[in-house]
Amino acid sequence: VARIRIHHLHQAKAKGEHFAMLTAYDQYTAEIFDQAGIEVLLVGDSASNNVFGNETSLPVTVDELLPLCRAVARSARRALVVADLPFGSYEVSAQQAVATGVRFLKEGLAHAVKIEGGKFYADTVRAMVQAGIPVMAHIGFTPQSEHALGGYRVQGRGDDAARLIEDAVALADAGAFCVLMEMVPAATAAAVDAAVDVPTVGIGAGNATTGQVLVWQDMAGLRGGKMAKFVKQYADLRTSLTNAAKAYGDDVRSGHFPGPEHSF
Ligand code: KIV
Ligand code: NA
Repeated sequence: VARIRIHHLHQAKAKGEHFAMLTAYDQYTAEIFDQAGIEVLLVGDSASNNVFGNETSLPVTVDELLPLCRAVARSARRALVVADLPFGSYEVSAQQAVATGVRFLKEGLAHAVKIEGGKFYADTVRAMVQAGIPVMAHIGFTPQSEHALGGYRVQGRGDDAARLIEDAVALADAGAFCVLMEMVPAATAAAVDAAVDVPTVGIGAGNATTGQVLVWQDMAGLRGGKMAKFVKQYADLRTSLTNAAKAYGDDVRSGHFPGPEHSF
């Protein structure tokens, strides 16, 4: 199977087609989603609060994400693998962003990286693209800025839509190959998509974007608890896994496992 490349995502937008993106943080999920035909795998900094046990994405580090990224990249034959640059690893300067981006392509084996932020990061994107690092731009609600934004809030409502369009245009002009929008009104996201030639991806951004992304543990119901409005749950892995663990524990305690068929 041929690798999905950035130009395939551009072709999807040109043809009015959609592509799917899911987070992945390890070998089996990468392999399964890849074989299921998911076009883009994101090694998100959401690993912070979905793998490492933190409450937010802020604490996760480059050194924590790199091995997950490597595992995903080694396990996906077809999908384009995008890695998040975590909080604090690119904001200081374009040089810092290039250096971190290089690490994700060289040590993490990622094919592209994603950074959060608006037009302020246009020069950073330009420097990274110049260095050979494809960049996906993440605008709208940007979880790494949770404290600055005052919590999880929809961005780009009303007059604020113009700001998001400006951000997207500046980042696309700087060379970003894709613009991802999180928690943006559907009409604003549609206007952003229309304003840029590059493909867009949405999460809580309506259905006018080229692609859609979800955190896989939300999509597959592993996380449990209250789900954001933008999540659609396609499986109930938490219940399946709970039942499997309970049945196994019961079997062990009652002496039913292992049976003769599991014994040498
Ligand atoms: O880290 C992440 O999972 C993300 C997506 C939800 C867009 O950035
Ligand atoms: Na992220």
